[in-house]
Amino acid sequence: MSNQPRTPQPSGSGDNAPAERRLALRIMTRPLDTNHYGTIFGGVILSAIDQAGFVEARRSGSHRWVTASIERVDFHAPVFVGDVVNLYTATIKQGTKSVTIRVDVESERSPSQSPVPVTSATLTMVAVDSRGTPIPFRSPATV
Ligand SMILES: CC(C)(COP(=O)(O)OP(=O)(O)OC[C@H]1O[C@@H](n2cnc3c(N)ncnc32)[C@H](O)[C@@H]1OP(=O)(O)O)[C@@H](O)C(=O)NCCC(=O)NCCS
Repeated sequence: MSNQPRTPQPSGSGDNAPAERRLALRIMTRPLDTNHYGTIFGGVILSAIDQAGFVEARRSGSHRWVTASIERVDFHAPVFVGDVVNLYTATIKQGTKSVTIRVDVESERSPSQSPVPVTSATLTMVAVDSRGTPIPFRSPATV
């Protein structure tokens, strides 16, 4: 199977949003982010994926959003110190209180700085009220 991230597709039937991929986050990697092999620690990328998921979820409604699950993460290639990491997101499914989001992570590295697909993930974010109770994300803004 190719390491190339697949273009997200709306899944299932019902009120699914078009899976338009957008840049959610752009980060620079530093020596502080490395593991003992000198490559970037996977947890750093997971944290960025979680943040990108929030940025994408917020496009569906101005609410508190929490991560309910990270269904899948594939680390295709390592990330190196000095890489600039781009996180692209697409909402692949909209439910009532939750959205499912695809995150594609690409590293720009010297000398070419052409993007290298490094990680892809799928996660579900849930809109909640101030008490943490799930709410329909199509309701008026709560934050
Ligand atoms: C996520 C959370 C709000 C779900 O609460 P819940 O009462 O179980 O949710 P409900 O059963 O009412 O379901 C609400 C929606 O969330 C979805 N959902 C709930 N748990 C889910 C899970 N584990 N994975 C995917 N979707 C989930 C449901 O499918 C439903 O979606 P829909 O309305 O679009 O059909 C609750 O489990 C929670 O607060 N978890 C902690 C979240 C958090 O702190 N994340 C950061 C971790 S540090």
